[in-house]
Amino acid sequence: MSDLLKKTYCDSALISTIYHYLELGSTNNIAKQMVLQDKEQNFGIISKTQTAGYGQRGHFWESPSGGLWCSLALKPEINPRRMGLIPILCALSVAKALKSYHISTRLKWPNDILHSTDNKKLGGIIVEGKVSRKDVEYLIIGIGININTYLKQYSLPLRKDITSTLEITKTHIELEPLLHKIINSLERGFNNMARGEEGDILLEWKKWDNILGRKITITSNNIEFEGIAKDLTKYGQIILELDDGREISFASGNLSLL
Ligand code: BTN
Repeated sequence: MSDLLKKTYCDSALISTIYHYLELGSTNNIAKQMVLQDKEQNFGIISKTQTAGYGQRGHFWESPSGGLWCSLALKPEINPRRMGLIPILCALSVAKALKSYHISTRLKWPNDILHSTDNKKLGGIIVEGKVSRKDVEYLIIGIGININTYLKQYSLPLRKDITSTLEITKTHIELEPLLHKIINSLERGFNNMARGEEGDILLEWKKWDNILGRKITITSNNIEFEGIAKDLTKYGQIILELDDGREISFASGNLSLL
């Protein structure tokens, strides 16, 4: 692990301090370590590069210099049954923050941020943590967005599926102000949830969604299901209508558009 470069502060009830590193294995792993060993909470970690960044299902996450690779550690006062809404809220917060830089995105349930014109992946979210039946002990929200990166910095096979804000707009974005926008938006979302207004989050998410009403497959526990993505439940699960008319909801899974 490289040395701490600097510490900055954030004017948010959600996150107070942001730790900046040059290179880490994974910001999520370091954040987890700090929560468990140092009992820290409400902080963020940014690293310029990651050597062992990971995404959903443990996939290696390429993290070249210029991207926003960060993790937020927090303890929100939310009902654990609402956990499925967290990736949705995070993806929405990223989409809204990027919109303020005139970058238009679509959201692919539960955690993908795609560029709206070609559906290429701009970023993703991974939510980890410790949740009991009664409360959420801690959450680590990992956010990876291809910001000031060139496609040539990624491996050849990945290049056809992804893009970056630099490739789209040819302009540089300061990473920390972008992260502050995401955090502020997340904070508003958590406040909505605390007031029982999660319906607003779902309604807003649907304006950015690119899968509802479309034919998809979801692979869950190694079984592939095919059907129409009908809706989201109030807990953020996706409802799939199978060909025989039955409806099944999924809390997670690997989703592909047909
Ligand atoms: C996905 O599979 O789409 C989620 C990718 C999440 C990647 C980010 S980068 C910062 C943080 N640290 C990690 O190791 N992963 C997340």
